[in-house]
Amino acid sequence: MSMEGTAKPFSLPREMWSYLNERNTPPTEAQTALRTETDQLSERGMRFNHESALLLQILVKAQRPKFCVEVGTFTGYSSLTVASALPDGARLLCCDVSEEYTEVARRHWVAAGVDDRIELRIGPALETLRSLPDDLEIDFAVIDADKSNYTNYYTEIIKRLTPHGVIAVDNTMWSGRVLESNQDGDTAALQAFNDHVAADARTTNVTIPIGDGVTLISLA
Ligand SMILES: C[S@@+](CC[C@H](N)C(=O)[O-])C[C@H]1O[C@@H](n2cnc3c(N)ncnc32)[C@H](O)[C@@H]1O
Repeated sequence: MSMEGTAKPFSLPREMWSYLNERNTPPTEAQTALRTETDQLSERGMRFNHESALLLQILVKAQRPKFCVEVGTFTGYSSLTVASALPDGARLLCCDVSEEYTEVARRHWVAAGVDDRIELRIGPALETLRSLPDDLEIDFAVIDADKSNYTNYYTEIIKRLTPHGVIAVDNTMWSGRVLESNQDGDTAALQAFNDHVAADARTTNVTIPIGDGVTLISLA
C-alpha cells in the first residue's frame, strides 16, 4: 500500500479507500521524514492523517490566512503541512503541553524551512488561548488535542474567528464511537462537542468523513 500508515475511515469499503488513496497527492519529502521518525514512537497513532492534512493544505492555499492557531501539535504533521501552505508573512501559533513530542516537530519545521513562521507555546492550550487578546483575529484553526476540552477550545477560537475564517476539528467521528449511547470520557466529550457545534446558529458546519472525521466550521 503506497499510503502505509494512513487510517481508513471506519465506514468506507477498503477497495474504495485504496482507490482514492492511490490517487491522492502523496506525502512530500518533509512529511515522509516526519512520518518515519514519528512511526518509531509508541504514540504514533496520534499523528495527523495524511488525507486530512491534504484537506488542510488545500484550505490554507485557497484561503490565504494571515494568522492561524493549532491546538495539539504532537510531532508536527499538521503544523508542517499548514505552515508550508501559508502565504508570505502569515503566522501559525502552535499549542501543546509536550516538550518531548514538539522537539520532534521543531526539528522538522527547521528542516523544511518553515520554523520562522511558527510560534510554539508549551502549556495547557486552554490557558494559552485564554491569554490571547480578545481582538486578535484568527483566520484558520486546527483543533486536535485533548477531547474533553474541544468545546472550550472552540469557544475561545470562534469569538476571534474572522468572517472568512475556518476551524478544522479532527476526530469528530471517533472511529464511529460517537454513534454509541451511554458513553463517557472522550466519546461523551466528542458527542457533546458535535451537538454543541450543530446547535450553534452563528456558524455553518460540515463533517468530512476523511480520516477519523474532520469537521469544518465557519461563521454563517
Ligand atoms: C492527536 S495529537 C496531535 C496530532 C498533531 N496535530 C499532528 O499533526 O500529528 C494530540 C496532542 O495534544 C497534546 N495535548 C493533550 N492535552 C493537551 C492540553 N491540555 N493542552 C495542549 N496540548 C495538549 C498532546 O501532547 C498531543 O501532542
